[in-house]
Amino acid sequence: MIFLSTAVLSLAALASAAGVPSHSSVKRQVTQLRSKYDFVIVGGGTTGLTVADRLSAAFPKKNVLVIEYGDVHFAPGVFDPPTDWITAAPDAPPAWTFLSLPNPEMANTSAFVKVGQAVGGSSTVNGMFFDRGSRFDYDAWTEAGGKAFAKSKVKWDWQGLFPFFKKSVTFTKPDAAIAQRYKYTWDVSAYGGLGPIHSSFSSFQWADQTVLGKAWTEIGIKPAKECAGGNKEGICWVPASQHPVTAKRSHAGLGHYADVQPRANYDLLLKHQVVRVVYRNGPKSGPPLVEVKSLADGHLFNVTVTGEVVVSAGALHTPTVLQRSGIGPASVLSAAGIPLVLDLPGVGSNFQDHSGPPVTWTYTKPYTFFPLPSDMVTNATFKAETTAAFAETPARGPYTLAGGNSAIYVSLPHTTPSYQSIIAKIRQMATSGASTAFLPPDIRSDPTMAAGYASQLLALATLLSNPAAPSLETPWATAESPGTAWSFLLHPLSRGTVRLDSADHLAQPILDYRAGTNPVDFDLHLAHVRYLRKLLETPTLKGYGAVEVAPGSEVAGDDDALRAYVKQSSTLSFMHPCCTAAMMPREKGGVVGTELKVHGAEGLRVADMSVMPLVPGTHLSATAYAVGEKAADIIIQEWKKR
Ligand SMILES: Cc1cc2nc3c(=O)[nH]c(=O)nc-3n(C[C@H](O)[C@H](O)[C@H](O)COP(=O)(O)OP(=O)(O)OC[C@H]3O[C@@H](n4cnc5c(N)ncnc54)[C@H](O)[C@@H]3O)c2cc1C
Ligand SMILES: *[C@@H]1O[C@H](CO)[C@@H](O)[C@H](O)[C@H]1NC(C)=O
Ligand SMILES: *[C@@H]1O[C@H](CO)[C@@H](O)[C@H](O)[C@H]1NC(C)=O
Ligand SMILES: *[C@@H]1O[C@H](CO)[C@@H](O)[C@H](O)[C@H]1NC(C)=O
Repeated sequence: MIFLSTAVLSLAALASAAGVPSHSSVKRQVTQLRSKYDFVIVGGGTTGLTVADRLSAAFPKKNVLVIEYGDVHFAPGVFDPPTDWITAAPDAPPAWTFLSLPNPEMANTSAFVKVGQAVGGSSTVNGMFFDRGSRFDYDAWTEAGGKAFAKSKVKWDWQGLFPFFKKSVTFTKPDAAIAQRYKYTWDVSAYGGLGPIHSSFSSFQWADQTVLGKAWTEIGIKPAKECAGGNKEGICWVPASQHPVTAKRSHAGLGHYADVQPRANYDLLLKHQVVRVVYRNGPKSGPPLVEVKSLADGHLFNVTVTGEVVVSAGALHTPTVLQRSGIGPASVLSAAGIPLVLDLPGVGSNFQDHSGPPVTWTYTKPYTFFPLPSDMVTNATFKAETTAAFAETPARGPYTLAGGNSAIYVSLPHTTPSYQSIIAKIRQMATSGASTAFLPPDIRSDPTMAAGYASQLLALATLLSNPAAPSLETPWATAESPGTAWSFLLHPLSRGTVRLDSADHLAQPILDYRAGTNPVDFDLHLAHVRYLRKLLETPTLKGYGAVEVAPGSEVAGDDDALRAYVKQSSTLSFMHPCCTAAMMPREKGGVVGTELKVHGAEGLRVADMSVMPLVPGTHLSATAYAVGEKAADIIIQEWKKR
C-alpha cells in the first residue's frame, strides 16, 4: 500500500515537473491491462515511442501497449541549470552504464557506454546533438543488402528515408539577430515537416567557438550551408533537439507520448521488463505472446497479442530479448541453455559504435576570450547571470547550448592522399574471403555471416572512396585550453558482439567491442589523427602559440607509435551502439528484412538502432526517429490492406 501510493505520488510529482498530465493510460500493474492488444511495443524509447504514437493515431480502434523498463522522468537538457556537465554530475533520468570486456586490440581498455532507462529511452539522456547522416551512409545500407534489397519495394536508401527525417521533426529558424551574430546557416528544404520533435539552434555560442571554425577553413575545409539535407562534407552547423523558445530538451517521452495524450487506445506499462517473446507452436505460429516481469514484485505474466510485436529495446537490449526468446546464434543459445526457436546468427552480432582518440594542445600566448566554459566554474557572477538568462522567455545564454552545435565532417579522400591503398585493401579482403577471419569467433564459421560481412565491406569501400562521404567527424563548441579535437571513426570495419550472460539471462548483456580487430580501422584512425594535427600548423592556432600535447610529432611520425597511441587513448564508445539485429537478407546473416520483420518469424519486427546494417556517420537520435517513422509507415500500410 505504502509503496503503491508513494509510486503514484512520485509519478504525479514528476509528471507535473515535466508539464506532463498524469493519465490513466499509464499502467503500473498487470491488473490494469486489457486482456489483449493489437500491437505490443517492447521498449518505450526513442524509436519505440515513435512507432507506438503513429500506430495508435492511425488505428483508433486498435489497442497499442508499450512495455517500458524505466519510469516517467523529467529530462533536463545536458547543460541545464542547476547542474550541468561542466560543474557537476548531470541531473538526468536513469541510464544503464556498461563496461565492455577488455578490448585486447585496444590495450585492454574497456568501452564505457550508457543507454537511457526511462520513458523516451536514450533521447532523455543524450547530448541533443541533432544531425543526420550523409545520403551515402544510407545508400550503403541498400548496397550492403545486395540484389534482393535493390529490388525491394521498401527502400532504406537516402531517398527512402529522407521523407521520414522530415516528418519526424519541426525545425525552427533562429532569431535573425542570433543567426547574424553567429553566422548560422540552414536550408529549410531539409526540413518542412511538423513533427513532434523540435530541432533548433542555441541562442548562444562560447566566445572562442570561431577559433576552430577559422582554423578548419585554413586547412581547407569549406563551410556547408546545410548538413541535414543529405550532403554533409565540410563544416556544419548542427541544431539541437530542444524547444526553440524554452531551450528545454525535446525527447520521445514528450513528443511521442506525453504531448499526444490522452488517446484511449495508447497504453504504457512502466517498470516492467520484457523477458522474451513466446511462440506456442514455432516461429511461424505468431504473433507471439510477450512474457513480462514486474520490477516491483517479480511477478511474471504473458501479454496476448493479436497483431504484432515490435521489439524496440535498443541496440544493447533488443538482442537480449531475442536471445532469451530462442532467436539467435544456435551455439550461443545452446551454451546458455536456451531451447532454439530460430537460428539467426546475426542476433547480437554485427555490433558497431563510433570510437577514436583525441589530438590535444595548450596555448603559450594569451587566450583572452570571454565567456569560456571555465567561467561557469570560476565566475559566480557569470554563472548567476547565466542561470537567470535561461529562465527568460525566450531562454538566453550559455544554458541554451546543449553540447555544442558545430562539427567538421571530412571524407577519406580529403584526409589522406593514400586513401586508394586503404580502399584496395578493403576490397581485397572482401573478395578474397580474408575478411571472415575478422568476424567474432562464435559466428565466424557461419557462411551467411561471412557473406554479409564481405558485402558490408564492399559497400564501405564504395562509401570511403567517395570524396563527398565523411569518414571523420570532429565536433567542437570551444577551443579553450587544453584544446581537444576528438577523432570520430564514422565507418568502422570491426564487428563486436552483444551476448546474454549465460549465468543470468535477465542480467545485463556482455559487450565485446572487438574494436580494432579489423586492422584497416587503424589505417583509418592514423589517417584521421594525422589530418587533425594540421590544426596545429594553421595561422590561427599558431597565433595563440598552440603547442601540441598529444600525440606529438614524434609519435605521429611513426606508424607503430601512432598505432600504440590510438590503442591507449581512444574512447571506444561515443555512445552510438548499434547494428545488433541488422537489416540484411538472411543469406547475408541478417536478422530483419526491409519491412523490419524478423526473418523466419511471424508477427515480430524490430525497430530501433539495432536494425542498421552499418553505423551511419552521425549521432544516432535523428536516425532513430526517422527509422521509427518509416517503421510505423510500413506497418500502417500493411494493416490498412488487411
Ligand atoms: C549518454 C548518451 C549521449 C548521446 N548523445 C547523443 C547526441 O548528442 N545526439 C544523438 O543524436 N544521439 C546521441 N546518443 C544516441 C541516441 O540517443 C541513441 O542512439 C538513440 O536514442 C537510441 O534509440 P533506440 O530507440 O534504439 O533505443 P532507446 O532510446 O535507448 O530505447 C530503448 C528503450 O527500451 C527500454 N528497454 C530495454 N530493455 C527492455 C526490456 N527488456 N523490457 C522493457 N523495456 C526495455 C529502455 O529502458 C529504453 O527506454 C546518445 C546516447 C547516450 C546514451
Ligand atoms: C591484455 O590482457 C591479456 C589477458 O590478461 C594479456 O595476456 C595481454 O598481454 C594484455 N595486453 C596488453 C596490451 O596489455
Ligand atoms: C507464457 O506462455 C508460455 C506458452 O504457453 C508458457 O510456456 C509460459 O510459462 C507462460 N509464462 C507465464 C509467466 O505464464
Ligand atoms: C565575471 O562575469 C561577469 C558577468 O558576466 C563579468 O562582467 C566579469 O567581467 C567576469 N569576471 C571575470 C574576471 O572574467
